[in-house]
Amino acid sequence: MKKVYLETFGCQMNVSDSERVSTLLAARGFEITRTEDTADVVLLNTCSVREKAEHKLYTRVGQIRNSKKKPALGIMGCVAQLEGETLFEKAPGIDFILGTKALGRVPEAIEAATKKKKRFIDLGEREENYDWSVSPLQRHSPHIAFLPIMEGCNKFCTYCIVPFSRGREKSLPAAQIIAQILQLRRQGIKEIHLIGQNVNSYRPKTEAGLENFRGATLFSRLLRAAAATGVERIKFTTSFPRDFHPDIVAAINENENLCNWVHLPVQSGSDKILKAMRRGHNVDNYLRRVDVIKNSPRKISLTTDVIVGFPGETIEDFEATIRLFEYCQYDSTYIFKYSVRQGTPASQFSDDVTKAEKTRRFIELEQIQKRIQSKIFASMLNQIVEVLVEKQSSKSSEDLSGHTTCHKVVNFKGDLELLGKIAKIKITDSKNNSLYGTVL
Ligand code: 5AD
Ligand code: SF4
Repeated sequence: MKKVYLETFGCQMNVSDSERVSTLLAARGFEITRTEDTADVVLLNTCSVREKAEHKLYTRVGQIRNSKKKPALGIMGCVAQLEGETLFEKAPGIDFILGTKALGRVPEAIEAATKKKKRFIDLGEREENYDWSVSPLQRHSPHIAFLPIMEGCNKFCTYCIVPFSRGREKSLPAAQIIAQILQLRRQGIKEIHLIGQNVNSYRPKTEAGLENFRGATLFSRLLRAAAATGVERIKFTTSFPRDFHPDIVAAINENENLCNWVHLPVQSGSDKILKAMRRGHNVDNYLRRVDVIKNSPRKISLTTDVIVGFPGETIEDFEATIRLFEYCQYDSTYIFKYSVRQGTPASQFSDDVTKAEKTRRFIELEQIQKRIQSKIFASMLNQIVEVLVEKQSSKSSEDLSGHTTCHKVVNFKGDLELLGKIAKIKITDSKNNSLYGTVL
């Protein structure tokens, strides 16, 4: 039996793609291994969203090429799609390349590379009958499932490579999504993340499956339909600000199992920069959406992504981002230094913010966010929260951790029997931006 080792970089969509690739390979008689040392085939599922992520690929190809066993090496994911043939020259030692829509043909690619000893590349489209299901054995977590509801992106923000690596937006049929949620529930999954580049731009071809659910948008109808399955917890990422309808907040308020967390990437607090980014929102209409979230009767946590040092970002623009952070009081943020991506419109802009200044702004914003976050965490002391117990800490088997419904990590001591259960935890401490508690 051929052994395949699959390594994943980047976002939830890549994790989800890898789960489906493993499912398919296992069904075709391959063994999925946990270490690369014994593998006959190594597959790298790559990310191209920032330069750093892309560099990891080149480092790993070098390491695998120099390993003793010399496995066949395949590259999939966004870098594979974008670079195509040129990867064979850029990173010698690669045997096959699979684009983001070609994953259903991974067994054929392995066969070509190992049996026929021929370089193989497939950047083709997805099969009509592509199977979106994941075997429970191949899921990244026994308790949490990622469920794509749409793929691709039509927004073309000027800095972003995703519309090029993942193609146009395509929503999956609602009836299929609901059937999958029901199946996951039967399998004992406690938490489902509906995932997509812009989940709230969800626009399936038909309304089949949503007939009995009202809502101002197809996405809020899908949320209500998903909630009606009775699965314990539903989270969804990522939301696109322009398409964020207040009805999403209404749906969260009506349904306990729609979790009280919204991830709403702002990218900048300056209208000038947002315009240059072609985000489709300005500060004012972003904050109106934030107000709806913050004023909700059920407390909803709010997180974001932001880029510092975009071409043309002055100190005043950066200060506008700081003001926005102070206003929004995010529960958590991902801060990125702008990283030029070849082929995007912004790669043509002259970048007048030095590397050192990007780093300085990054650190400053991070400090501000840390202060905001520790205040939010401190306010949670003595609160009782419900935590899905996900895993043991790597340091000690008694230390467990999991997420709240508002997507905060909580650490606590407890019995392994709690794994996969929802535990009531009293928050007793917050250190270094982590929450600690005791099981009730
Ligand atoms: N440079 C820096 N950050 C980027 N992101 C996307 N493209 C770039 C880029 N070129 C960030 C955005 C996005 C997140 C997934 O990655 O903040 O929301
Ligand atoms: Fe990239 Fe903008 Fe699409 Fe997000 S919405 S994937 S940032 S182009």
